[in-house]
Amino acid sequence: MTLVLDIRDLDKGFTMHHLGTKMAAFAGISFQLHAGEFLLLKGRNGAGKSTLLRTLYRSYLPGSGEILFHSSHGVIDLARAADVDVSFLRKTEVGFVTQFLTARPRVSAEALVAEPLRLSGVAAGEALEEARHWLDAFGVKRALWAAYPTTFSGGEQQKVNLARALILPQRLLLLDEPTASLDASARAALIDRLAELKAKGTAMIGVFHHPGDVAQLINREIDLTPETQSQEEREDVVV
Ligand SMILES: Nc1ncnc2c1ncn2[C@@H]1O[C@H](COP(=O)(O)OP(=O)(O)O)[C@@H](O)[C@H]1O
Ligand SMILES: [Mg+2]
Repeated sequence: MTLVLDIRDLDKGFTMHHLGTKMAAFAGISFQLHAGEFLLLKGRNGAGKSTLLRTLYRSYLPGSGEILFHSSHGVIDLARAADVDVSFLRKTEVGFVTQFLTARPRVSAEALVAEPLRLSGVAAGEALEEARHWLDAFGVKRALWAAYPTTFSGGEQQKVNLARALILPQRLLLLDEPTASLDASARAALIDRLAELKAKGTAMIGVFHHPGDVAQLINREIDLTPETQSQEEREDVVV
């Protein structure tokens, strides 16, 4: 199997300037992820799931450790890569789906969705056609395709977001509760698309509020709840 991600002893803390203290979000994380594997990230609220995904996407710099990403151009440590290399990889090989759309003023839904394809070299007309296919698949009404998503409802924005994030098969896909605020048919379309991408070899790390939705995709699970907290939880149950 092709190795995609090799994470070694990763940790991340936040400095609470107003309190003058440091707080660990996660520590000592090591795992490997191969092409076509789906890793479920678990853990209670505040366990560090979103922080770990953001660190892998390099929205945050880790405190220490390595994030060895096996890109099509060779191995790169995302913990130390230059910003310019990170933004190149985000356009071509690493995707991130969150609950929130980053809509841009005066950019239509279909143009926003077509953009990743256009940047990868697909001709404008073909990219637009593909974008409309995915807007339709996720249930965005035809009347909205040429409109500006800044005015859309939360659910509609989320669908545009999914179409844009999933239009192009990536080597690595990070998913932070992508089903929140989706209706049942959009959720089904999302899971179908994830299964298709997985079969094409995309490696995925995801946080899901209802992991049952993606049960058939999961290869492995990592629980970020610290040992001491699980212990407390067990004691809570006994009491
Ligand atoms: N930018 C930040 N600055 C300070 N603390 C943060 C920041 N982002 C997250 N945290 C803290 O890190 C911990 C983990 O948060 P998060 O990764 O969002 O948890 P999860 O997604 O598992 O619910 C929480 O205690 C949260 O308050
Ligand atoms: Mg979170």
